[in-house]
Amino acid sequence: MIELVPITERIGTEVRGVDVTEGISTRDFDRIYQAWIDSTILLFRGQSMTPDQHVDFTRRFGEVVSYTRKEFAAERPEILILSNIARNGRLIGSPVSGRVWHTDGHYLAEPPAGSMLHALEVPPQGGDTWFANMFAAWEDLPEQVKRRIEGREVVISRVQSRPYNYPDRPPPTEAERAEWRDMPQPMVLTHPENGRKAVYAGGNVPWRIVGMEESDSAPLVTFVQEFSVQPRFTYRHRWRAGDIILWDNRSAMHRATGYDMTRWRRLMHRTTLAARHGPDEAATRH
Ligand code: SIN
Repeated sequence: MIELVPITERIGTEVRGVDVTEGISTRDFDRIYQAWIDSTILLFRGQSMTPDQHVDFTRRFGEVVSYTRKEFAAERPEILILSNIARNGRLIGSPVSGRVWHTDGHYLAEPPAGSMLHALEVPPQGGDTWFANMFAAWEDLPEQVKRRIEGREVVISRVQSRPYNYPDRPPPTEAERAEWRDMPQPMVLTHPENGRKAVYAGGNVPWRIVGMEESDSAPLVTFVQEFSVQPRFTYRHRWRAGDIILWDNRSAMHRATGYDMTRWRRLMHRTTLAARHGPDEAATRH
């Protein structure tokens, strides 16, 4: 018997009573799926998945894509390893991804719909992940701010975001700079599946509001950034090995935290859901 338990009042659902590697009935899966759409993140505790099982389980939520840093794939190209562990003198995963509030792939024309992170080894201190519910941030925004941002676009610069997203990587090359176009994104996103509005521009990577003077844009940017991640919208997850979290990238921001990499090991496997994830894909997810 599955149980859906809110994680906090405003964000997340813990799914209890399932082994994700065993067939979850269509009826139960529909409830789980809806809880994901409505509460922005799902937590499953005590799970053990091989890379194949991880991809299979993610696939129930939609199309799985291979996403960034292909040199850090775990057995399957769809699995990205996040880790500080080295083998034969080489890191097996990306060591310091996502340490600022962000939306994955915000600099792409079609950012991914979500990601599923599976904890295999976790440090006894640190290495937590924060999540923020951007539906809730939108709901609570003062009306005059809603009026100022709705219908506006922001421009996300992949080049400028690089040191924020991946501080361990070298600056973009000349070829990357030439290839990477600045990407406009809506400041407020209407979720394709439940029609709710979410603040879609609040991350701590550089962005600017299109068509607004810098003197007006800068304080508004700062306000939205700070407003969206207030404690009432957020949840800090203290990982245990065997945890799985699936976040909805259209309605949740997230942020990794540091840990003492000289003392502790952290090993996480991540899969990513393709952007196109409307009702058509949902209808075929079983
Ligand atoms: C990420 O996917 O942004 C990293 C999350 C984490 O490692 O905690």
